[in-house]
Amino acid sequence: MTILVTGAAGFIGSNFVIDWLAQSNETVVNLDKLTYAGNLHNLAALEGNPAHVFVQADIGDSATVSQLLSTHQPRAVLNFAAESHVDRSIHGPEDFIQTNVLGTFRLLESVRAYWQALAEPEKGAFRFLHVSTDEVYGSLGPNDAPFAETNAFEPNSPYSASKAASDHLVRAWHHTYGLPVLTTNCSNNYGPFHFPEKLIPLVITNALAGKPLPIYGDGMQIRDWLYVSDHCSAIRTVLAQGQLGETYNIGGWNEQPNIEIVRTICTLLDTLRPRADGRSYASQISYVTDRPGHDRRYAIDAQKIERALGWRPAETFESGIRKTVQWYLDNQDWVAQVQSGAYREWVTQQYGQAS
Ligand code: NAD
Ligand code: DAU
Repeated sequence: MTILVTGAAGFIGSNFVIDWLAQSNETVVNLDKLTYAGNLHNLAALEGNPAHVFVQADIGDSATVSQLLSTHQPRAVLNFAAESHVDRSIHGPEDFIQTNVLGTFRLLESVRAYWQALAEPEKGAFRFLHVSTDEVYGSLGPNDAPFAETNAFEPNSPYSASKAASDHLVRAWHHTYGLPVLTTNCSNNYGPFHFPEKLIPLVITNALAGKPLPIYGDGMQIRDWLYVSDHCSAIRTVLAQGQLGETYNIGGWNEQPNIEIVRTICTLLDTLRPRADGRSYASQISYVTDRPGHDRRYAIDAQKIERALGWRPAETFESGIRKTVQWYLDNQDWVAQVQSGAYREWVTQQYGQAS
């Protein structure tokens, strides 16, 4: 048996494949374009493992995707591939439309042709699982109920609009063509292999480098943080037991303002790797210009997946963030490798020369 996973050289996809192969012998075909966010070093632990087959390709390359489907005959396709960073989508939205909208459309068409030609029982057992985000629901006020699967889509950034479009395409391919789809909408992840353009890894790596810790606006924006291996276990659960055509919200029951996240990281580092001058890393905090259109609050109501499929996160934020900070301390070579050339250009564009 085989599954095909797209975007599995990125942050969540690589964690998913590593976790998958730690508990199963089922082959994973990993299709990834290797954009700036894709990194084969994330998958170094799988080197020499015949159950991991890596193919560098674009989800929008229909000929290659069709060829791979026909060769490997997967029982499921899991779509993690996307442009994923909100700030980059503000500077340059076109790549987001190209991959998240057009790429998902082309992938759906390749998968539909493959699935339609399958014989039973493989056709009935096949699944297309689309990995999406809570950002499609827009922004919550301080007293609003968390996002439920029934909330209307109100995306606010080019990134979230492109993900919302992809979710709608997946839904339509189920309703119109009967493609057996599942969609997950997850909150903010953190953990190993998180690219240091995102808040948590950026703060850890900047702190250790003696650089400013940039807080957008007043730092009181709220996110609902989930340790990445919990997201991976939720996806395995939905793949195994999810109802066709349904969407499942995934979250950590862990809402926190950004400034609190940053202070927690500083406190952990003060203990694990104290600064030479004895001052707290919190002295590096620097308030900077806010993100345009910055969503104020995200929070996930994860009752549906808990009631229907019995999934709850295993990690608390306290244990997960400690593991994460320790992982970055132990993997400084990985950090140095991802912070080469193109990364420096992004940091200068986003935060200015001094960063
Ligand atoms: P990431 O940016 O770290 O990784 C994305 C991966 O997709 C990279 O390996 C990249 O090379 C690959 N890719 C990009 N365009 C491609 C294309 N056209 N064809 C093939 N591969 C391509 O992203 P991530 O944080 O791991 O997110 C993975 C998925 O989970 C995304 O769909 C994202 O929207 C979703 N998601 C992320 C979070 C989060 O907090 N990071 C939360 C909820 C949902
Ligand atoms: O909610 C799920 C989403 O979470 C995913 O769909 C996205 O792919 C993922 O990137 C993430 O989006 P966010 O925009 O919430 O994540 P980011 O780490 O970029 O920012 C988290 C919060 O921290 C957000 O309110 C912006 C703020 N921030 C971010 C950076 C990079 C800062 O204050 N300073 C920064 O330098």
